[in-house]
Amino acid sequence: MKNICVVGVGYVGLVTATAFSDLGNKVTALDINEERIEGLKKGEMPIYEPGLAEVVKRNVDAGRLSFTTSYEEGLRDAGFAFICVGTPEGVDGEADLQYVRMAAEEIARTMTAPLIVVNKSTVPVGTGDWVSDIIRETQPKHIDFAVVSCPEFLREGSAVADFMNPDRVVLGSLDEDAADKVAQLHLSLRAPIVVTDLRTAEMIKYASNAFLATRISFINEIANICEALGADVKEVAVGMGYDKRIGHHFLDAGVGYGGSCFPKDVKALAHMASVHGKHPQLLQSVMEINDFQRRTVMLKLREILGELDGKTIGLLGLAFKPNTDDMREAPSITIVEALMDEGARVRAYDPVAMTQARRVLKKVDYANDPYSVAEGSDALVVVTDWNEFKQLDMERVCQSMQQPVLVDGRNIYDPRKMQEFGFTYRGIGRGYDGAGNAE
Ligand code: UDX
Repeated sequence: MKNICVVGVGYVGLVTATAFSDLGNKVTALDINEERIEGLKKGEMPIYEPGLAEVVKRNVDAGRLSFTTSYEEGLRDAGFAFICVGTPEGVDGEADLQYVRMAAEEIARTMTAPLIVVNKSTVPVGTGDWVSDIIRETQPKHIDFAVVSCPEFLREGSAVADFMNPDRVVLGSLDEDAADKVAQLHLSLRAPIVVTDLRTAEMIKYASNAFLATRISFINEIANICEALGADVKEVAVGMGYDKRIGHHFLDAGVGYGGSCFPKDVKALAHMASVHGKHPQLLQSVMEINDFQRRTVMLKLREILGELDGKTIGLLGLAFKPNTDDMREAPSITIVEALMDEGARVRAYDPVAMTQARRVLKKVDYANDPYSVAEGSDALVVVTDWNEFKQLDMERVCQSMQQPVLVDGRNIYDPRKMQEFGFTYRGIGRGYDGAGNAE
């Protein structure tokens, strides 16, 4: 059992603190946001993450997990301080490290005993060295410390499971003993542990996310070609995926990736490359393709409906992906703004994200269910592939619409079935416009 302080109680920090306490450690989760900490003390979750509240409660009740806004309290007796603060996109795509700096400075000022500082936030290559310099320069008097990079590979909506069942743990440090101590914290997860230097560990995180984003833009480019040639990209992905070197994951064509990670991390990696004289040609294309994917919805709607001014367009789903309420960089934001720019009225429903959506999309007409979105609308657009949209009574949906136009932005429906119901169906790379012609 170790004493751990986790600094930053957002998507990554809260899951990290909770998981380490569930593994038997004594964890103090620290955030400067008093409202968030007070809420957590009352059992209120600041994020939507299925199953997290139960794990938090279990460990708070067992006395292994507590919350504070005080660095003195958080670092008391702690052998580890995990930095899990946000690293939002800054100018020109560079990661904004102000919160990492603040955490490193407070840790340096407050620590009273040797400490292992672990960077879990996604940080540009070289940040580990920078954090070391900050701590060394800020400490009132020298106290031994080491910095270890331990990037997270958590997906929103499955973050607890991803922490407890990682494909691998990556550790980077110039201090082998410190890396070994952090490895010990993860042993009970029984996952492969990659130990390398700080910069390489930081690069593994960026390269992993950039590769996943590249797969998505790759299959989206194939989808666009499929539309011209009359092939179905869903079947193409199935046929590709049996090749062990390719695999079936992350080959779902659609309106593209969003979220707080892929957009930010691909931009940050491209920025790192550019400022070091390396042109990130592929990463630029990955971003361009992803930006285009959100716009294909508009092209399809205009192709079928012509002018969108005065039309009512229904959106199914707003969150950037299912099983989250997160609207950061969600394709729905781009799509709603483009529709409203053309004078369309937008009606929308999301099972979970509407509270968050209202904060960023003010003029949308929010409905209580998918059928209310469809009723009387001139087109229906699937933006987020929530399971509850996959089993709708589509015949009823079709009959309730002003015009039976269905743009399936996440390819969750069978084109021919939709055609039989009477829809004018457009998927993303489905190669079939319902009349047997290439889209
Ligand atoms: C991602 C990485 O998966 C995770 O390892 C990292 O730690 C954080 O970023 P997350 O952003 O939570 O996780 O969600 P993910 O499930 O990866 O989806 C990201 C986006 O890609 C979503 O908008 C999703 O809709 C989209 N996506 C995903 C596709 O468009 N096609 C796919 O095949 C897969």
